[in-house]
Amino acid sequence: MASLSKIPTLCSNFILPLRPLVCSTLSNVRHYTLPSRNRHPVALYNDLKDKVALVTGIGQAQQTVDPSQWGNGAAAAKLLANNGVKVFGCDLHLKDAERTKQRILEDNQDAIVEVWEADVTKSHDVSAVVQRVLDKFSRIDILVNNVGMSRPGGPADMSVDAFRSQLEVNLTSTFLCCHEVLPIMEKQRAGAITVTSSIAGLGYIGKMHIGYSTTKAALLNFAKCTAVQYAPKGIRINAVIPGLIRTPLVERLAKEYQAGNYEKLVKRRDEGVPLGRQGTAMEVANATLFLVSDAASYITGTSLTVDGGVTAVVSNKG
Ligand SMILES: NC(=O)c1ccc[n+]([C@@H]2O[C@H](COP(=O)([O-])OP(=O)(O)OC[C@H]3O[C@@H](n4cnc5c(N)ncnc54)[C@H](O)[C@@H]3O)[C@@H](O)[C@H]2O)c1
Repeated sequence: MASLSKIPTLCSNFILPLRPLVCSTLSNVRHYTLPSRNRHPVALYNDLKDKVALVTGIGQAQQTVDPSQWGNGAAAAKLLANNGVKVFGCDLHLKDAERTKQRILEDNQDAIVEVWEADVTKSHDVSAVVQRVLDKFSRIDILVNNVGMSRPGGPADMSVDAFRSQLEVNLTSTFLCCHEVLPIMEKQRAGAITVTSSIAGLGYIGKMHIGYSTTKAALLNFAKCTAVQYAPKGIRINAVIPGLIRTPLVERLAKEYQAGNYEKLVKRRDEGVPLGRQGTAMEVANATLFLVSDAASYITGTSLTVDGGVTAVVSNKG
């Protein structure tokens, strides 16, 4: 049995043979294979066509070791666009957001994707982005709160500034986006929102990242309480809980904490997962896609864990 102590650090993932992802068996769902290297079956939900989505952190940082990987926000944008959703993505780094747009259009020339530079920890930036989406598409049906970051350290050794910055990026960003978007969805009498938590929000995962773990846990309750308040208004909100996912973040983690040894970090992360490998951003995005589609019309105030079985392990002794 995989041990929790072997789960090395928060985010990541890596190559490995891509295994088929089992998607919903609902009758209105068709499947197709992405025409690129990411060969996961991806669901197509008919109800998503022509909807409008705002995705935060859509950026695709330039990778050197493994450029085929996607960030979680970028992957969500791609799968939404492939379902006919008009996607508006924002990111701190416009160049990275533009890269995602290019990658989406490379596979699907009909995709509708707009990108914008914004820091979603700043309320005026969030207001401006939301106004921009309305100017462009007149409505917002889907909000994917994706931005997040982690810093190592516990309550005594982490600087106050580092802790506060994680509150801002991981939690305040989601509050600000919901603060602006919920009244719009309320007028529409419909909407679907996801927040991006992490298995680190469920407990200790082998390393101290107190700011990350605390904020990712808080997001789960944010989703639950908001879901109850907005259920009568036809708005659903759920959390996605990714495990160890191989995004561009992993390359950065290797540089920052593993002296650039990407392969070693990948191996360690793979070893901690019962399925024997880290997940891909597309596998996380498939969960997001399901939750914002009408296939999940009776699902609100809950979470979907995408972790290859990591959190099914309850003991590392014995
Ligand atoms: N990669 C993993 O293993 C993993 C695991 C669990 C949860 N997650 C969560 O998934 C989400 C995305 O992670 P990722 O691995 O794709 O990360 P990433 O760093 O590759 O991508 C995040 C994107 O968000 C952007 N961003 C950061 N702060 C921003 C801000 N203030 N305003 C606007 N944009 C901002 C970054 O520029 C980047 O493009 C995060 O919430 C992360 O915590 C990731």
